[in-house]
Amino acid sequence: MAISTKHAPTPRATLKGRSFLTTEDFTREELSEVLDLAIQYKTLGHGRPLQGRSVALLFFDPSLRTRVSMEIAIQQLGGQAVVLDVGKGTWALEYREGVIMDGDRSEHIKEAARVLSRYVAAIGVRSFPALRSFEEERHDPVLRSFARYSTVPIINMESAMFHPLQAMADVMTIRETFGLVDQRRVVLCWAYHPKPLPMAVPNSFALIAAQFGMDLTIACPPEYELDPELMERIREHARRNGASVRVLHDRREACRGAEVIYAKSWGSRHYYGRWEEERKVRERYREWIVDEALMRLTAQGYFMHCLPVRRNVVVTDAVLDSERSLVIQQAENRLHVQKALLSMLL
Ligand code: CP
Repeated sequence: MAISTKHAPTPRATLKGRSFLTTEDFTREELSEVLDLAIQYKTLGHGRPLQGRSVALLFFDPSLRTRVSMEIAIQQLGGQAVVLDVGKGTWALEYREGVIMDGDRSEHIKEAARVLSRYVAAIGVRSFPALRSFEEERHDPVLRSFARYSTVPIINMESAMFHPLQAMADVMTIRETFGLVDQRRVVLCWAYHPKPLPMAVPNSFALIAAQFGMDLTIACPPEYELDPELMERIREHARRNGASVRVLHDRREACRGAEVIYAKSWGSRHYYGRWEEERKVRERYREWIVDEALMRLTAQGYFMHCLPVRRNVVVTDAVLDSERSLVIQQAENRLHVQKALLSMLL
């Protein structure tokens, strides 16, 4: 909903010109400012602060929600989105430093990022991990290469390790549902999935839950614990925000009394790049599905998932289609959060 500029909420300028690679780039107060503006935009509408400006959206990997909501957010704010499928209609991009580029990647991000910076006001990047080397991919090499060489803000539209736009929409949804987010009892619950998936969503949800003072339980099989270095930072955010973090391997115990079950599947660090070995381990945890029996253990809890989700693998139809499911609201809030963020960065 666009409203006249005269009545549009005015974003505060503290984030102008900055990149958004992970929610840790911003303080809790800065993240809250983005959420405040997102809620204002959702309820009151917005002006056209991106009038005459363009934003490039680079997709190395597929998307439904991110692609459509980013494109529409830019358009509704008066700007123009330039959507590129990297390697299909653009050159395939190299990110490694000092390599002999005699393979199938024709252009280096070093040039691509600097050239795009001359055309557009910001660059969004989606680049999943290849799931080959955890030691390399934990540093988000593609995203960081753009951040290094671009002279305009970079927006992480899901990288190997983080999905901060999703995390912001998730917190907005929890705030709309409960009013206050502090001390909300949320469970990040690993789920079975036939393939190993990236850790970006669980990493970002755990981080933002701690940044916003929620009481977080991570329920997962022992082989699926998150990166210990990241867990240290999550615990530190929790300490600073009066929150708690625990990791349990018993999903029923974890979900007892919870207010939110956030389901997500992710791959194992221990078997990173060794899918055939992980497959056997993963098969042992087929019963890790969110069903009505699990939801009955909660304190009339809500179900959350970032989507896309595999029905009757990750979550049953009955839970996903129930009134306690927040998944569509989460997806809608991507649009509002991204509009607020774009207004403030640009
Ligand atoms: N949740 C999310 O990022 O969805 P897409 O992968 O469809 O963009």
